[in-house]
Amino acid sequence: MTVLIAKNIKKSFYSPQQTELLKGIDLTINHQESLAIVGKSGAGKSTLLHILGTLDTPSKGELIIDGVNIKKTNCYAIRKKKLGFVFQSHYLLENYSVIDNVIMPAKIARMCFHKQDLGLGLLSAVGLQEHASLPVKLLSGGEKQRLAIARALCNNPGLILADEPTGSLDSFHAEMVYDLLLRLVKEQGKSIIIVTHDLKAARLCDRTLILKDGFLSEVTNTINF
Ligand SMILES: Nc1ncnc2c1ncn2[C@@H]1O[C@H](COP(=O)(O)OP(=O)(O)OP(=O)(O)O)[C@@H](O)[C@H]1O
Ligand SMILES: [Mg+2]
Repeated sequence: MTVLIAKNIKKSFYSPQQTELLKGIDLTINHQESLAIVGKSGAGKSTLLHILGTLDTPSKGELIIDGVNIKKTNCYAIRKKKLGFVFQSHYLLENYSVIDNVIMPAKIARMCFHKQDLGLGLLSAVGLQEHASLPVKLLSGGEKQRLAIARALCNNPGLILADEPTGSLDSFHAEMVYDLLLRLVKEQGKSIIIVTHDLKAARLCDRTLILKDGFLSEVTNTINF
């Protein structure tokens, strides 16, 4: 079953000068599939991920998530219910506690279940259970990254979009995060798109695509990157 289809996505910027960053991206991701996107800094990976996650609008093209054609009027509802984001800049609420941050998406979606238990379970999955009541501003960079990952999973999203989710992590915690994310794909039928510079991690995914000169293409041999 297909979770997301992107058809001929283009993105241009007009300031400071006119640039066509994405020149026609076609992408399909299926249920229970993991996909890695690699590419040089500035290639447009974050821009693409934001478009796929309905956070940014393409200049041209079509996006279909779970059979629904994405428009301005339905993107918020789709995002809230179906998508989980790990941003390159974590966008945490620094003055709130760790547990309040992790359950924020459930509060926004007005989910009425045991949010506290859910939050603690997610924090424990990323090794942060002991920091639940600390204000986020006291966490280390890697701890903030793991918190952002736990938060992305809070709404039980079908599709997880992760932008360099292990960029600030040591190898032990990077492995913990990949293990967690890829287990969700295998065991819970989720789908994931991971933007990464970590080729070892990219190889753990079902497919690797490279974004280069505005186009995405399949990578069969990651040795050259
Ligand atoms: N609103 C904008 N206006 C003009 N240029 C922009 C805008 N947003 C992004 N860009 C440019 O588009 C390019 C791609 O940015 P993007 O953040 O998508 O790259 P990236 O592949 O994620 O890079 P990195 O690996 O460093 O995170 C950059 O050169 C950036 O400056
Ligand atoms: Mg980026």
